[in-house]
Amino acid sequence: MSKLSLSQRFTLILAAVFLVGIIVGGTAHWRALQGRAQDEISTQGTLLIEAMNAIRGYTSANVRPLLKGDLDSSREFIPETVPAFSARTVFENFREQVDFETYLYKEAALNPTSPADLADAFEADLLREMIAENAPDEVNGYRTLNGERLFYIARPLAIGSESCLECHGDPTDAPASLIVTYGDQGGFGWEVGDVVATQIIYVPAAEVFNAAFQTFTLVMSIFVATFALITLLINFLLKKYVIQPVDVLSGLAQKISVDENFSTDLESASLKTITARPDELGKLAQVFRQMAADVAARAKKLKEQVQELTIKIDLIRRDEQVKEVVETDFFDDLQKRARKLRQQGEDDVREEGESEI
Ligand code: HEC
Repeated sequence: MSKLSLSQRFTLILAAVFLVGIIVGGTAHWRALQGRAQDEISTQGTLLIEAMNAIRGYTSANVRPLLKGDLDSSREFIPETVPAFSARTVFENFREQVDFETYLYKEAALNPTSPADLADAFEADLLREMIAENAPDEVNGYRTLNGERLFYIARPLAIGSESCLECHGDPTDAPASLIVTYGDQGGFGWEVGDVVATQIIYVPAAEVFNAAFQTFTLVMSIFVATFALITLLINFLLKKYVIQPVDVLSGLAQKISVDENFSTDLESASLKTITARPDELGKLAQVFRQMAADVAARAKKLKEQVQELTIKIDLIRRDEQVKEVVETDFFDDLQKRARKLRQQGEDDVREEGESEI
C-alpha cells in the first residue's frame, strides 16, 4: 500500500467503494425488480381469473335463463348456456391476440364433462390439495409446461348453487341434448359445496422476467458507467489540481537542497500558475516561494559574510605569521646582534672622539 502513488490509492479506494456500492445496490435493485415482476404476473393472473368468474356469473345469471326453454326442447345442445363454455370461449378469443397467445385458462377436474378439462398430474395434485380440509383459497407458483416457464394461480371451483346440478347432478335430470353431446359419464354426481375442479390460470413468466432483466442491465450499465466516469474524473482532477502542483513544488525543493542557483526557478511559469491559485495549494506555493526567496537571500548574504570573514582571517593570519617570525629565537638573536653592533658603532665613534681630544 505504501508503495502506491496518491492517484493509485485514490483509484483503489474509490473502486472498492464503488464495487461494494454496485454489489449492494445491484442486489437490492435486482430483488426489487424481481418482486415487481412477480407482483405484475400475479396481478395479471388474478385479473384474468376474476374476469373468467365474472363471465361465468354472467352466463348463469343472464344468458342461461333466456335460453332455458330452448335448451329443454332443442335436440342439439346449446353450449352458450354453460358457464364453463363461455369462460373458455371468451378466453380463446383473448388468446387470439398476439401478446396473449401463451396464456392458458383451464377448469381442471378429475371427472370432467368435457375430456379437454381433465386435470393433468400436476393439476390433479393441486385439486386434491384443495379438496382436502383446511384447503387454501388460492395456490400459486411456477411450472414448466411445453418447455415454457409459467406462473400459475389456482383456485378451488365449487358447486355454488342447485342450478349447477341440473347438468351435473344425476344424468337422468340433465338435458337430453347434453347426454347426446357429452355422454353420461363425466361431470355428474356432484353436490352443492363440492370442490369439483380447480380454476387455474397460466401466465408466461419469461417475458416479464426478461423485461425485468433488461431494466436491470440498463440501470446497472448506467450505474457502472457513472462510477467509472466519476473515478476517471476524480483522478484527472486530482492530477491536475493536486499532484501536478505538488510535483512542481517537490522538484523545486529538491533543487534547492542540491543546487544553490535556484532563484531563476522561482520565476518559472509553472510555479507562477500555482501561486496564482486562490486555494490552499496556491497559498502553500506562495509561502514556499517566499521561503525559497528568503533562503536564497540568506545564502547570498552568508556568502558575502563568509567572504568578508575570509579576508579578515587572512589578514589576521598574516599578522600572526609576522608575529611568529618576530618572536622566534633567531629573530631575537638577530635583534640582540643588531643592538650589539649598534653599541659597538657608538663606542667606536666615542673612541675616535676621545682620541681626537
Ligand atoms: C346447462 C348445463 C350446465 C349447467 C347449468 C352447468 N354446467 Fe358446468 N358444464 C356443462 C358442460 C356441458 C360442461 C362442459 C363444457 C365444455 O365443453 O367445456 C361443463 C363444464 C363444467 C366444468 C369444467 C369441468 C368439466 O366438467 O368439463 C365445471 C367446473 C363446471 N361445469 C361447473 C359448473 C358449475 C359450478 C355450475 C353452476 C354454476 C355449472 N357447471 C352449471 C354443463 C352445465
